[in-house]
Amino acid sequence: MKITTMSLGLALFLSAVASAQAQVPTSDATPAFKKLDSIEARAQGCVTCHGQQGQGTANGYFPRIAGKPAGYLYNQLIAFRNGTRSYPPMNYLVAYLPDAYLKELAEHFAAQRPAYSNQERPVQDAAAAARGQMLVTAGDPKKGLPACIACHGAGLTGMEPGIPGLAGLRPAYVVGQLTRWKVGERHAAEPDCMKRIASRLTDEDISAVAGYLAQKTPPTNASPEPSNLVRMPFACGSQR
Ligand code: HEC
Ligand code: HEC
Repeated sequence: MKITTMSLGLALFLSAVASAQAQVPTSDATPAFKKLDSIEARAQGCVTCHGQQGQGTANGYFPRIAGKPAGYLYNQLIAFRNGTRSYPPMNYLVAYLPDAYLKELAEHFAAQRPAYSNQERPVQDAAAAARGQMLVTAGDPKKGLPACIACHGAGLTGMEPGIPGLAGLRPAYVVGQLTRWKVGERHAAEPDCMKRIASRLTDEDISAVAGYLAQKTPPTNASPEPSNLVRMPFACGSQR
């Protein structure tokens, strides 16, 4: 009697498994992340840190990658693999992944348009806010600094194919990246225009810019602008 109940239970369990399996590869209605080796399945290794659609974490360090140009994201994944950009968890993760796989991941996250998560807005004094706004929107001709929007776009949503949006990036992340460029720990393809820019920014400038970016409400249409080399004040190796 006991055995019969158990085998009935087992049979029901197995048939449930079998029908679940039968549904996986065939039905279009299957949620994409359940399809074996789909791009969504591959991206599962990324979403614990970058968010389900690459929106980044609300607070903290993990950057938004959604909606940045695929070319830019691909360049970063290659840079992590080659070690020209250093962040050990990212370096290990992509160490053995082939180009085509990285390209697919880049295209996947570039195509996502999740809402921006609410973010902390650090307190900024009026002078720092004004300095940040000036650098982002007008630059500082005395220091040979062009406006950030000349390349990163009027809405700070980036420019195809190689310039990332800055909207919605956390202050700690922006400060970290600009400082690394300044001290030579982050590199992009030559001519490395961001190296040129970051080395002209003081630490106060960097914190003013990061604070100003955090105060701005990100746009709803976060798509990068089309490529426009004429508008760019400096040449950038990643923008060809
Ligand atoms: C353990 C957490 C973690 C995991 C898992 C992770 N990332 Fe990251 N990723 C980060 C952090 C933190 C950074 C910023 C590193 C830095 O300071 O340069 C980053 C940076 C990036 C960047 C550069 C972002 C930019 O705007 O320049 C890309 C692209 C990226 N990750 C893609 C991925 C992909 C694709 C995966 C899955 C294969 C993945 N990440 C998995 C934490 C993670
Ligand atoms: C001449 C064009 C140009 C100008 C002007 C410019 N940038 Fe950039 N920026 C780039 C390019 C190209 C990249 C991508 C480099 C790479 O491939 O890693 C970039 C990347 C960045 C990143 C990395 C974003 C991320 O997701 O990791 C930050 C932060 C940044 N720029 C901030 C600024 C700030 C702040 C200013 C103004 C003070 C500025 N940029 C002005 C071209 C420019």
